[in-house]
Amino acid sequence: MTETDAGATAVAVRLRSVRRLYRDVVALDGVDLAVRAGSFVAIMGPSGSGKSTLLQCAAGLDRPTSGSVEVGGTELTGLSERRRTLLRRDRIGFVFQSFNLIPSLSAAQNVALPGRLAGRRPSRTQVHAALDRVGLAGRAGHRPGELSGGQQQRVALARALVSRPAVLFGDEPTGALDTVTSRHVLALLRELVNGEGQTTVMVTHDPVAASYADRVVFLVDGRVESELAGPDVEEVAGRMAALEGRRTGGVRAGAEAAGGAGSVRADGEAARRTGSVHADTETVGRTDSVHADTETARHTDSVHAHAETARRTDSVHAHAETARHTDSVHADTEAVGR
Ligand SMILES: Nc1ncnc2c1ncn2[C@@H]1O[C@H](COP(=O)(O)OP(=O)(O)O)[C@@H](O)[C@H]1O
Ligand SMILES: [Mg+2]
Repeated sequence: MTETDAGATAVAVRLRSVRRLYRDVVALDGVDLAVRAGSFVAIMGPSGSGKSTLLQCAAGLDRPTSGSVEVGGTELTGLSERRRTLLRRDRIGFVFQSFNLIPSLSAAQNVALPGRLAGRRPSRTQVHAALDRVGLAGRAGHRPGELSGGQQQRVALARALVSRPAVLFGDEPTGALDTVTSRHVLALLRELVNGEGQTTVMVTHDPVAASYADRVVFLVDGRVESELAGPDVEEVAGRMAALEGRRTGGVRAGAEAAGGAGSVRADGEAARRTGSVHADTETVGRTDSVHADTETARHTDSVHAHAETARRTDSVHAHAETARHTDSVHADTEAVGR
Protein backbone atom coordinates (compact mmCIF):
# COMPACT_ATOMS: atom_id res chain seq x y z
CA MET A 1 0.00 0.00 0.00
CA THR A 2 1.63 3.18 -1.12
CA GLU A 3 -0.14 5.68 1.09
CA THR A 4 2.85 7.95 1.03
CA ASP A 5 1.99 10.37 -1.74
CA ALA A 6 -0.45 13.10 -0.87
CA GLY A 7 -2.99 12.08 -3.53
CA ALA A 8 -3.39 8.58 -2.17
CA THR A 9 -4.43 9.72 1.28
CA ALA A 10 -7.03 12.10 -0.09
CA VAL A 11 -8.54 9.85 -2.76
CA ALA A 12 -9.61 6.32 -1.89
CA VAL A 13 -10.86 5.29 -5.32
CA ARG A 14 -9.95 6.78 -8.67
CA LEU A 15 -11.26 5.74 -12.07
CA ARG A 16 -9.73 7.25 -15.16
CA SER A 17 -11.37 6.92 -18.58
CA VAL A 18 -12.77 3.53 -17.65
CA ARG A 19 -14.47 1.69 -20.48
CA ARG A 20 -15.99 -1.76 -20.20
CA LEU A 21 -17.34 -3.51 -23.25
CA TYR A 22 -19.27 -6.74 -23.33
CA ARG A 23 -18.91 -7.74 -26.98
CA ASP A 24 -20.71 -4.89 -28.69
CA VAL A 25 -22.38 -3.55 -25.53
CA VAL A 26 -20.69 -0.50 -24.06
CA ALA A 27 -21.41 -0.89 -20.33
CA LEU A 28 -19.01 1.89 -19.30
CA ASP A 29 -18.07 4.56 -21.76
CA GLY A 30 -15.21 6.57 -20.31
CA VAL A 31 -15.90 7.04 -16.61
CA ASP A 32 -13.77 9.42 -14.57
CA LEU A 33 -14.48 9.36 -10.86
CA ALA A 34 -12.58 10.18 -7.69
CA VAL A 35 -13.92 9.20 -4.29
CA ARG A 36 -12.47 11.11 -1.40
CA ALA A 37 -11.21 8.99 1.51
CA GLY A 38 -13.72 9.04 4.33
CA SER A 39 -16.64 10.03 2.13
CA PHE A 40 -19.89 8.29 1.22
CA VAL A 41 -20.81 8.28 -2.47
CA ALA A 42 -24.01 6.96 -4.00
CA ILE A 43 -24.18 5.84 -7.62
CA MET A 44 -27.55 6.15 -9.32
CA GLY A 45 -28.88 5.81 -12.82
CA PRO A 46 -31.48 4.01 -14.90
CA SER A 47 -31.40 0.24 -15.13
CA GLY A 48 -28.63 -0.85 -17.47
CA SER A 49 -26.72 2.43 -17.13
CA GLY A 50 -23.61 0.61 -15.90
CA LYS A 51 -23.85 1.01 -12.12
CA SER A 52 -22.97 -2.57 -11.23
CA THR A 53 -20.24 -2.70 -13.84
CA LEU A 54 -18.76 0.50 -12.43
CA LEU A 55 -18.81 -0.86 -8.90
CA GLN A 56 -17.25 -4.15 -9.93
CA CYS A 57 -14.49 -2.46 -11.89
CA ALA A 58 -13.81 -0.13 -8.96
CA ALA A 59 -13.70 -3.08 -6.55
CA GLY A 60 -11.40 -5.19 -8.68
CA LEU A 61 -14.10 -7.81 -9.26
CA ASP A 62 -14.10 -6.99 -12.94
CA ARG A 63 -11.48 -5.57 -15.27
CA PRO A 64 -12.06 -2.51 -17.44
CA THR A 65 -11.52 -2.99 -21.15
CA SER A 66 -9.46 0.20 -21.00
CA GLY A 67 -8.72 2.95 -18.53
CA SER A 68 -7.38 2.65 -15.01
CA VAL A 69 -8.62 2.01 -11.49
CA GLU A 70 -6.78 2.91 -8.31
CA VAL A 71 -7.89 1.80 -4.84
CA GLY A 72 -6.24 2.94 -1.62
CA GLY A 73 -3.27 4.20 -3.61
CA THR A 74 -2.75 0.95 -5.52
CA GLU A 75 -3.23 0.81 -9.26
CA LEU A 76 -5.30 -2.26 -10.15
CA THR A 77 -4.69 -2.14 -13.84
CA GLY A 78 -1.96 -4.55 -14.78
CA LEU A 79 -2.02 -6.43 -11.49
CA SER A 80 -1.98 -10.18 -11.91
CA GLU A 81 -5.13 -12.07 -11.06
CA ARG A 82 -3.53 -13.22 -7.86
CA ARG A 83 -2.39 -9.77 -6.76
CA ARG A 84 -5.83 -8.39 -7.53
CA THR A 85 -7.40 -11.14 -5.42
CA LEU A 86 -5.10 -10.35 -2.52
CA LEU A 87 -5.80 -6.65 -2.78
CA ARG A 88 -9.53 -7.34 -2.81
CA ARG A 89 -9.19 -9.51 0.24
CA ASP A 90 -7.15 -7.01 2.22
CA ARG A 91 -8.42 -3.63 1.05
CA ILE A 92 -11.94 -4.02 -0.27
CA GLY A 93 -15.27 -4.87 1.32
CA PHE A 94 -18.34 -5.71 -0.74
CA VAL A 95 -21.99 -6.19 0.15
CA PHE A 96 -24.78 -7.17 -2.23
CA GLN A 97 -28.52 -6.89 -2.29
CA SER A 98 -28.82 -10.53 -1.29
CA PHE A 99 -26.86 -11.05 1.86
CA ASN A 100 -25.04 -14.15 0.63
CA LEU A 101 -24.61 -15.63 4.05
CA ILE A 102 -24.04 -19.34 4.46
CA PRO A 103 -27.24 -20.63 6.13
CA SER A 104 -25.53 -23.39 8.10
CA LEU A 105 -22.94 -21.08 9.68
CA SER A 106 -23.38 -18.76 12.65
CA ALA A 107 -23.01 -15.00 12.27
CA ALA A 108 -19.48 -15.19 13.69
CA GLN A 109 -18.55 -18.07 11.38
CA ASN A 110 -19.92 -16.18 8.38
CA VAL A 111 -17.84 -13.15 9.31
CA ALA A 112 -14.73 -15.28 9.70
CA LEU A 113 -15.26 -17.30 6.52
CA PRO A 114 -13.50 -15.18 3.86
CA GLY A 115 -10.39 -14.91 6.01
CA ARG A 116 -10.50 -18.60 6.81
CA LEU A 117 -10.77 -19.54 3.14
CA ALA A 118 -7.84 -17.27 2.40
CA GLY A 119 -5.75 -18.94 5.09
CA ARG A 120 -5.92 -15.86 7.31
CA ARG A 121 -8.49 -16.71 9.88
CA PRO A 122 -9.42 -13.59 11.84
CA SER A 123 -9.16 -13.83 15.62
CA ARG A 124 -12.27 -14.19 17.76
CA THR A 125 -11.63 -10.68 18.99
CA GLN A 126 -11.61 -9.31 15.44
CA VAL A 127 -14.79 -11.17 14.53
CA HIS A 128 -16.58 -9.96 17.63
CA ALA A 129 -15.34 -6.42 17.13
CA ALA A 130 -16.76 -6.51 13.58
CA LEU A 131 -20.12 -7.78 14.84
CA ASP A 132 -20.06 -5.16 17.57
CA ARG A 133 -19.51 -2.41 14.99
CA VAL A 134 -22.77 -3.36 13.31
CA GLY A 135 -24.62 -3.71 16.60
CA LEU A 136 -24.79 -7.50 16.60
CA ALA A 137 -22.40 -8.40 19.39
CA GLY A 138 -25.15 -10.40 21.05
CA ARG A 139 -25.96 -12.44 17.93
CA ALA A 140 -22.61 -14.05 17.18
CA GLY A 141 -23.96 -17.57 17.61
CA HIS A 142 -27.14 -17.08 15.60
CA ARG A 143 -27.58 -18.53 12.14
CA PRO A 144 -28.91 -16.37 9.28
CA GLY A 145 -32.32 -18.07 9.51
CA GLU A 146 -32.60 -16.89 13.10
CA LEU A 147 -31.94 -13.28 12.13
CA SER A 148 -34.12 -10.66 10.45
CA GLY A 149 -33.30 -9.36 6.98
CA GLY A 150 -31.72 -6.23 8.40
CA GLN A 151 -29.66 -8.23 10.85
CA GLN A 152 -28.51 -10.54 8.07
CA GLN A 153 -27.36 -7.59 6.01
CA ARG A 154 -25.51 -6.30 9.05
CA VAL A 155 -23.74 -9.65 9.38
CA ALA A 156 -22.78 -9.30 5.70
CA LEU A 157 -21.51 -5.80 6.54
CA ALA A 158 -19.46 -7.13 9.45
CA ARG A 159 -18.01 -9.73 7.10
CA ALA A 160 -17.09 -7.01 4.62
CA LEU A 161 -15.57 -4.81 7.32
CA VAL A 162 -13.62 -7.35 9.37
CA SER A 163 -10.49 -6.82 7.26
CA ARG A 164 -10.77 -3.04 7.80
CA PRO A 165 -11.03 -2.36 4.06
CA ALA A 166 -9.97 0.92 2.50
CA VAL A 167 -13.30 1.02 0.71
CA LEU A 168 -16.69 -0.55 1.33
CA PHE A 169 -18.73 -1.15 -1.83
CA GLY A 170 -22.43 -1.95 -1.80
CA ASP A 171 -24.56 -2.88 -4.81
CA GLU A 172 -28.13 -2.08 -3.74
CA PRO A 173 -27.34 -3.14 -0.16
CA THR A 174 -30.81 -2.15 1.01
CA GLY A 175 -32.63 -3.40 -2.08
CA ALA A 176 -34.02 -6.49 -0.35
CA LEU A 177 -35.01 -4.75 2.87
CA ASP A 178 -38.30 -3.19 3.90
CA THR A 179 -38.39 0.58 4.32
CA VAL A 180 -37.78 0.78 8.05
CA THR A 181 -35.05 -1.88 8.13
CA SER A 182 -33.44 -0.25 5.14
CA ARG A 183 -33.21 3.04 7.07
CA HIS A 184 -31.41 1.30 9.91
CA VAL A 185 -28.81 -0.17 7.60
CA LEU A 186 -28.34 3.21 5.90
CA ALA A 187 -27.97 4.97 9.23
CA LEU A 188 -25.37 2.36 10.18
CA LEU A 189 -23.45 2.98 6.95
CA ARG A 190 -23.60 6.71 7.64
CA GLU A 191 -22.38 6.14 11.18
CA LEU A 192 -19.41 4.10 9.93
CA VAL A 193 -18.48 6.96 7.62
CA ASN A 194 -18.91 9.63 10.29
CA GLY A 195 -17.40 7.73 13.19
CA GLU A 196 -14.65 5.74 11.53
CA GLY A 197 -14.07 7.49 8.24
CA GLN A 198 -15.10 4.35 6.35
CA THR A 199 -15.01 5.27 2.66
CA THR A 200 -18.22 3.90 1.16
CA VAL A 201 -19.50 3.63 -2.40
CA MET A 202 -23.09 2.43 -2.79
CA VAL A 203 -25.23 1.77 -5.82
CA THR A 204 -28.89 2.44 -5.18
CA HIS A 205 -32.08 3.26 -7.03
CA ASP A 206 -33.69 4.67 -3.88
CA PRO A 207 -33.54 8.47 -3.52
CA VAL A 208 -33.86 8.14 0.26
CA ALA A 209 -30.86 5.79 0.37
CA ALA A 210 -28.90 8.18 -1.82
CA SER A 211 -29.72 11.06 0.54
CA TYR A 212 -27.57 9.43 3.23
CA ALA A 213 -24.51 9.90 1.01
CA ASP A 214 -22.32 12.98 0.79
CA ARG A 215 -22.55 12.97 -2.95
CA VAL A 216 -24.60 11.29 -5.68
CA VAL A 217 -23.13 10.43 -9.06
CA PHE A 218 -25.66 9.84 -11.84
CA LEU A 219 -24.79 7.44 -14.63
CA VAL A 220 -26.51 7.33 -17.99
CA ASP A 221 -25.47 4.97 -20.77
CA GLY A 222 -22.16 4.21 -19.08
CA ARG A 223 -21.19 7.84 -18.54
CA VAL A 224 -21.26 10.17 -15.57
CA GLU A 225 -24.16 12.42 -16.48
CA SER A 226 -24.16 14.69 -13.44
CA GLU A 227 -23.56 14.89 -9.69
CA LEU A 228 -25.24 16.24 -6.60
CA ALA A 229 -23.41 17.20 -3.42
CA GLY A 230 -25.23 17.07 -0.07
CA PRO A 231 -28.16 15.39 -1.79
CA ASP A 232 -31.72 16.06 -0.75
CA VAL A 233 -34.30 13.29 -1.30
CA GLU A 234 -36.62 15.28 -3.52
CA GLU A 235 -33.81 16.68 -5.58
CA VAL A 236 -32.44 13.18 -6.16
CA ALA A 237 -35.90 11.80 -6.96
CA GLY A 238 -36.49 14.62 -9.41
CA ARG A 239 -33.18 14.06 -11.11
CA MET A 240 -33.85 10.32 -11.39
CA ALA A 241 -37.33 10.94 -12.77
CA ALA A 242 -35.83 13.14 -15.45
CA LEU A 243 -33.21 10.51 -16.32
CA GLU A 244 -35.71 7.64 -16.40
CA GLY A 245 -38.13 9.73 -18.41
CA ARG A 246 -35.48 10.55 -20.92
CA ARG A 247 -34.87 6.89 -21.54
CA THR A 248 -38.35 5.40 -21.34
CA GLY A 249 -40.51 8.31 -22.45
CA GLY A 250 -42.45 8.18 -19.19
CA VAL A 251 -41.80 9.63 -15.77
CA ARG A 252 -44.08 7.39 -13.75
CA ALA A 253 -41.48 5.40 -11.83
CA GLY A 254 -39.56 8.48 -10.92
CA ALA A 255 -42.65 10.46 -10.07
CA GLU A 256 -43.76 7.73 -7.70
CA ALA A 257 -40.37 7.77 -6.05
CA ALA A 258 -40.64 11.52 -5.66
CA GLY A 259 -44.15 11.27 -4.27
CA GLY A 260 -43.15 8.73 -1.68
CA ALA A 261 -39.99 10.50 -0.77
CA GLY A 262 -41.48 13.49 0.99
CA SER A 263 -42.92 11.49 3.82
CA VAL A 264 -39.67 9.80 4.72
CA ARG A 265 -37.35 12.71 4.30
CA ALA A 266 -37.58 13.80 7.90
CA ASP A 267 -36.81 10.25 8.97
CA GLY A 268 -33.73 10.10 6.75
CA GLU A 269 -32.41 13.38 8.00
CA ALA A 270 -33.00 12.51 11.60
CA ALA A 271 -31.25 9.19 11.12
CA ARG A 272 -28.29 10.90 9.58
CA ARG A 273 -27.80 12.95 12.69
CA THR A 274 -28.45 10.33 15.36
CA GLY A 275 -25.54 8.52 16.87
CA SER A 276 -27.21 5.24 17.60
CA VAL A 277 -29.05 3.17 15.07
CA HIS A 278 -29.23 -0.22 16.64
CA ALA A 279 -31.90 0.37 19.22
CA ASP A 280 -35.11 -0.82 17.61
CA THR A 281 -33.85 -3.29 15.07
CA GLU A 282 -35.07 -6.11 17.26
CA THR A 283 -38.63 -4.98 16.92
CA VAL A 284 -38.32 -4.38 13.24
CA GLY A 285 -36.89 -7.83 12.74
CA ARG A 286 -40.08 -9.42 13.95
CA THR A 287 -42.31 -8.21 11.15
CA ASP A 288 -43.91 -10.81 8.92
CA SER A 289 -42.50 -9.42 5.72
CA VAL A 290 -38.96 -9.77 6.96
CA HIS A 291 -39.55 -13.36 7.94
CA ALA A 292 -41.17 -14.05 4.61
CA ASP A 293 -38.08 -12.66 2.91
CA THR A 294 -35.81 -14.77 5.04
CA GLU A 295 -37.80 -17.89 4.27
CA THR A 296 -37.62 -17.20 0.57
CA ALA A 297 -33.95 -16.43 0.63
CA ARG A 298 -33.25 -19.64 2.46
CA HIS A 299 -34.82 -21.62 -0.32
CA THR A 300 -33.54 -19.84 -3.38
CA ASP A 301 -31.08 -21.50 -5.66
CA SER A 302 -28.84 -18.49 -5.56
CA VAL A 303 -28.23 -18.88 -1.86
CA HIS A 304 -27.45 -22.56 -2.20
CA ALA A 305 -25.37 -22.00 -5.29
CA HIS A 306 -23.51 -19.36 -3.40
CA ALA A 307 -22.87 -21.66 -0.48
CA GLU A 308 -21.37 -24.18 -2.86
CA THR A 309 -19.22 -21.60 -4.54
CA ALA A 310 -18.04 -19.89 -1.40
CA ARG A 311 -16.66 -23.13 -0.09
CA ARG A 312 -14.19 -23.15 -2.91
CA THR A 313 -13.20 -19.50 -3.00
CA ASP A 314 -11.33 -16.96 -0.97
CA SER A 315 -14.09 -14.53 -1.39
CA VAL A 316 -17.64 -14.52 -0.14
CA HIS A 317 -18.12 -11.55 -2.41
CA ALA A 318 -19.20 -14.19 -4.85
CA HIS A 319 -22.67 -13.80 -6.11
CA ALA A 320 -24.46 -16.46 -8.09
CA GLU A 321 -26.99 -14.09 -9.59
CA THR A 322 -24.83 -12.93 -12.45
CA ALA A 323 -22.58 -14.93 -14.70
CA ARG A 324 -20.06 -12.17 -14.33
CA HIS A 325 -19.64 -12.92 -10.66
CA THR A 326 -19.29 -16.58 -11.32
CA ASP A 327 -16.41 -15.79 -13.62
CA SER A 328 -14.65 -13.75 -10.99
CA VAL A 329 -15.23 -16.49 -8.43
CA HIS A 330 -13.56 -19.03 -10.67
CA ALA A 331 -10.75 -16.61 -11.31
CA ASP A 332 -10.29 -16.24 -7.58
CA THR A 333 -10.24 -19.96 -7.08
CA GLU A 334 -7.51 -20.38 -9.59
CA ALA A 335 -5.53 -17.42 -8.38
CA VAL A 336 -5.58 -18.39 -4.75
CA GLY A 337 -6.07 -22.15 -4.89
CA ARG A 338 -3.21 -24.01 -3.40
N1 LIG B 1 -21.86 -10.06 -18.29
C1 LIG B 1 -22.43 -9.27 -19.18
N2 LIG B 1 -22.49 -9.63 -20.47
C2 LIG B 1 -23.04 -8.81 -21.40
N3 LIG B 1 -23.58 -7.61 -21.11
C3 LIG B 1 -23.56 -7.21 -19.84
C4 LIG B 1 -22.98 -8.00 -18.81
N4 LIG B 1 -23.11 -7.33 -17.63
C5 LIG B 1 -23.73 -6.17 -17.92
N5 LIG B 1 -23.98 -6.09 -19.25
C6 LIG B 1 -24.63 -4.97 -19.94
O1 LIG B 1 -23.96 -3.79 -19.61
C7 LIG B 1 -24.86 -2.73 -19.37
C8 LIG B 1 -24.71 -2.23 -17.95
O2 LIG B 1 -25.10 -3.23 -17.03
P1 LIG B 1 -25.07 -3.03 -15.45
O3 LIG B 1 -23.75 -2.50 -15.06
O4 LIG B 1 -25.50 -4.30 -14.84
O5 LIG B 1 -26.17 -1.89 -15.27
P2 LIG B 1 -26.98 -1.43 -13.97
O6 LIG B 1 -26.33 -2.03 -12.77
O7 LIG B 1 -26.92 0.06 -14.02
O8 LIG B 1 -28.38 -1.91 -14.17
C9 LIG B 1 -26.24 -3.31 -19.68
O9 LIG B 1 -26.55 -3.02 -21.00
C10 LIG B 1 -26.05 -4.78 -19.48
O10 LIG B 1 -26.96 -5.50 -20.26
MG1 LIG C 1 -27.04 -3.32 -11.26
